[in-house]
Amino acid sequence: MTYVVTDACIRCKHMDCVEVCPVDAFREGENMLVIDPDACTDCNMCLPECPVDAILPDIEPGLERWLELNARFAREWPEVTVKRDAPADADEHKGEPGKFEKYFSPEPGEGD
Ligand code: F3S
Repeated sequence: MTYVVTDACIRCKHMDCVEVCPVDAFREGENMLVIDPDACTDCNMCLPECPVDAILPDIEPGLERWLELNARFAREWPEVTVKRDAPADADEHKGEPGKFEKYFSPEPGEGD
């Protein structure tokens, strides 16, 4: 099992999750994070930290798309372990439908 970041993270990117991960499993894209499934140890520390409920365990149904996205971009995006401020308009995008189609970027983020 692993935890996965879903499209709820896109343009919210609160980054509370990275501070609690004991194995530094988060990777940073331009406007969302993913979890490296090979690093994640299923500890569950990150899930309750996300203010927009973007992190889910992969045992939930319907997450195949996000599992694939996390695994792919975990190989391409830099590690991130230090929280930075969320985007100024993060709250405006909380719960917005269709965020992947509208805003997803394959570009890497800053990383640490
Ligand atoms: Fe994204 Fe939630 Fe982390 S919005 S950056 S998964 S705390």
